[in-house]
Amino acid sequence: MDALAARFGTPLFVYDAALIEERYQALISAFTGVDLLVAYSVKANGNLAILDRLARLGAGADIVSGGELHRAMQAGIPGDRIVFAGVGKTVSELRSAVAARIHGFHVESAGELRALEAVAAEMGIPARVGLRVNPDIVSPAHHGYTQTGHAETKFGIPVDQVLELYRWAASSPHMDIRGIDAHIGSGILDPAPYGRVLDLLLEIAAQLASEGIELEYLDMGGGYGVPQGDEAGMPVERLAELVVPRVREAGLGLVVEPGRYIVAEAGTLLTTVLYVKRTGEKTFVVTDGGMTELIRPSLYAGFHRVEPTSGTASGDEERVDVVGPICETGDFLALDRRMTVPSPGDVLAVRTAGAYGSSMASNYNSRLRPAEVLVEDGRAHLVRRRETLEDLTRGETIPPSPEDTTKKQA
Ligand code: LLP
Repeated sequence: MDALAARFGTPLFVYDAALIEERYQALISAFTGVDLLVAYSVKANGNLAILDRLARLGAGADIVSGGELHRAMQAGIPGDRIVFAGVGKTVSELRSAVAARIHGFHVESAGELRALEAVAAEMGIPARVGLRVNPDIVSPAHHGYTQTGHAETKFGIPVDQVLELYRWAASSPHMDIRGIDAHIGSGILDPAPYGRVLDLLLEIAAQLASEGIELEYLDMGGGYGVPQGDEAGMPVERLAELVVPRVREAGLGLVVEPGRYIVAEAGTLLTTVLYVKRTGEKTFVVTDGGMTELIRPSLYAGFHRVEPTSGTASGDEERVDVVGPICETGDFLALDRRMTVPSPGDVLAVRTAGAYGSSMASNYNSRLRPAEVLVEDGRAHLVRRRETLEDLTRGETIPPSPEDTTKKQA
């Protein structure tokens, strides 16, 4: 890790290709016995190299924007393995995805269903659809901001509107009804709430079948938590035991949309210690990475292990705050963490940073977004170069100042 930091600079994201593949295969073997599509949730990490490797393994994609559609297709994920959720799909996004003949639009409102029907009619291509149901379940997600299954959230269609909208869609020659979907949140460690979602979706599917509207698949969303601190991750085998027999029995295919489970643990953020600052009150380890690279600690109180890369750190343990250089009190990677106090120049590894790290990175404080490296078969490939100062101001223009314009006219 130190060699990578020296070669590519820090902050740096490092991804382990073998671990990504291992996690993907773990899902495939857990969910065996049913017609399965693992639609990797691109928002977790949309780097083309990662999408390419997953595409080669047979993965599909769960997308939420035209940008993610572009990435997925550029990486060679075929349209018929792509599902599209999101409450605010624009007409132009609907058009691109209809053209790509995606596996399923997961429609989140009556208005969106009408817009999609109009787009499909205009293009002469029937749209494959499923409704995203809001099951009104408060999921045990790791933070309120990642709960998406209860009635107060913007996601999904209330159960009491679902049948009516399916009937409406079934009456249109431009809609090809395929599935039903729910995604209740992220960072979930317990299979039980998925059982309740399954009960509801199967009940709706049975009702539709009795009216002659036959579904082909059931999509359970993603949201499987990974180990954090002392907590174990989602036991996917147990989840699969709960889900697979019932979906198979109903004669349906299964779609799952994991993001974090596949990439989180495969990613590490390397960051260099700039200063150790003691204030009397506290000890701050100031690093060159912060909330612009990994916003999870700030936004969701997300826990990430922070450890020295060299393993040579010695000396006393202390409680420290590991903070970034960004001008926000909320800019930290770890708070009140017991660790051997590192020295300036030491490289720290921030773990489980493969999901929602680089994909949520920003240029705030005019910082350059970091480089990303994929380690595969002992080789390190630069899969995204560090941004430059030119990248930073690309697209900005200065209009002629009113002063200059007046002078010219005079
Ligand atoms: N499917 C849908 C429709 C989603 O909205 C999401 C995540 C997923 C699948 C994948 O969830 P996962 O398996 O990765 O948990 N930025 C937050 C997580 C937000 C997740 C948003 N939707 C975090 O860093 O914890």
